Amino acid sequence: MRQLEGAFALIFKSAHYPNELIACMRGSTLILGVKELADDKVRGKLFHDVKDLTKDEKPKELFFSSDLCAIVEHTKNYLAIEDNEVVHIKDGCVSILKFDYGREKPASVQRALSVLEMEVEQIKKGNYDHFMQKEIYEQPHSLTTTMRGRLKDNSVVLGGLKEHLKTIRHSRRIIFIGCGTSYNAALAARSLFEELSGIPVTMELASDLQDRQGPIYREDTAVFVSQSGETADTLLALEYALANGALCVGVTNTVGSTIARKTHCGIHINAGCEIGVASTKAYTSQIVAMAMMALAIGADRISTQARRQSIVDDLSNLPNKVSEVLKLDGEMRDLAESLIDTQSLLVFGRGYNYATALEGALKVKEVALTHSEGMLAGEMKHGPLALVDETLPIIVIATRDACFSKQQSAIQQLHARKGRLIIMCSEGDASSVRPVESCKVIEVPRVADCLQPVINIIPLQLLAYHLTVLRGFDVDQPRNLAKSVTTQ
Ligand code: G6P
Repeated sequence: MRQLEGAFALIFKSAHYPNELIACMRGSTLILGVKELADDKVRGKLFHDVKDLTKDEKPKELFFSSDLCAIVEHTKNYLAIEDNEVVHIKDGCVSILKFDYGREKPASVQRALSVLEMEVEQIKKGNYDHFMQKEIYEQPHSLTTTMRGRLKDNSVVLGGLKEHLKTIRHSRRIIFIGCGTSYNAALAARSLFEELSGIPVTMELASDLQDRQGPIYREDTAVFVSQSGETADTLLALEYALANGALCVGVTNTVGSTIARKTHCGIHINAGCEIGVASTKAYTSQIVAMAMMALAIGADRISTQARRQSIVDDLSNLPNKVSEVLKLDGEMRDLAESLIDTQSLLVFGRGYNYATALEGALKVKEVALTHSEGMLAGEMKHGPLALVDETLPIIVIATRDACFSKQQSAIQQLHARKGRLIIMCSEGDASSVRPVESCKVIEVPRVADCLQPVINIIPLQLLAYHLTVLRGFDVDQPRNLAKSVTTQ
């Protein structure tokens, strides 16, 4: 371990040492699940030189995992192994040692077992065919839990940030850092942050920030967005931001994850366990969590009070609107059928929904294994327009917001080049956006412009889901992809 660099969690087993196992970790997550002891015996028990546990007559079952979700079906009692600790299991006895630099001898570790607050139903499919489908349908509920206890008297209370709001308000810049879907969620929240805080917000893909060693200063607030809280690139970017003295905020879905532990403060999005590799409910919960964060940061400004009030009202009503938009399921299945043989799909968005275009295209790409690109409609004339013909399907997001008339004009231009258009618009707007009667239109419920990405992504999640199932691919575990990318 002294010679290793970076983050890791390792388990060793050898034919030369039967009935023995060694595990160790640094900067990653390693969970030791302990089964068999009755709850009352275990809770709060000091896990001192764990032979304590094994002195009991009953044999114990022990589980190692890099994710809490994986142990819940076996046991709720666990111990989170910490940096530089080594677990030694021999003949059913467990001991944990901590190796500190500069200290010759390792110290024996004492720690109480924790109890997992998660139900086994969360990791079962229930009546659904796939986890992705279940998680799409869970969104009215997951968004409710994201907001639970946090919207109070027309304002937002975020316990994990309270102490740091003042520092954030005084920062010179807010930097959002993430990968994949988490980056897209941050992008969806960016403009609301700028509007309500008045602070410039920049976006960083975690890998690119490291490649460039981009400047980060003490006056910056760096927000790390990661549903797993374990993504290697995001973690390394966190180490980098900490070393540069920035205030580091975590937005994660995993209590006890490395990002949750290593940041100065943060928000848990509380979306519940997500199993499908393609993130769905975590994405919408991330946007809502970050919208609440923007509201909390901007809470000291009188000039935006009315705006904040209307957003809080729409947040409370958001789960109902999500239930409404889920009714488009059949329609999206039909659309998927019409796209089953397509080689490629473009998605155009702008403003709040540039992120929706990126995320919608990412879903189609990762699960339906179909080439798909999300594009900023403002960039249409700088290249993408050359691709347009009557065969290439193009989704244009044109729901009501300040960019609506610009999107109407983009639709006209795409139609003039004989583009095969599918238009997403606000309910009742079909005739204002449709260039010809035959054009496919997806009408979605209207909410505050900054929350509209939460609604708009759902038909695209459903489209990606159905396209994948119809094409016969594995929707929950797409080839070559992993849920948590813990290596660089
Ligand atoms: C993987 C997952 C994506 C996720 C990305 C970032 O690529 O398949 O769904 O968006 O990692 O993961 P994080 O846990 O940091 O949000």
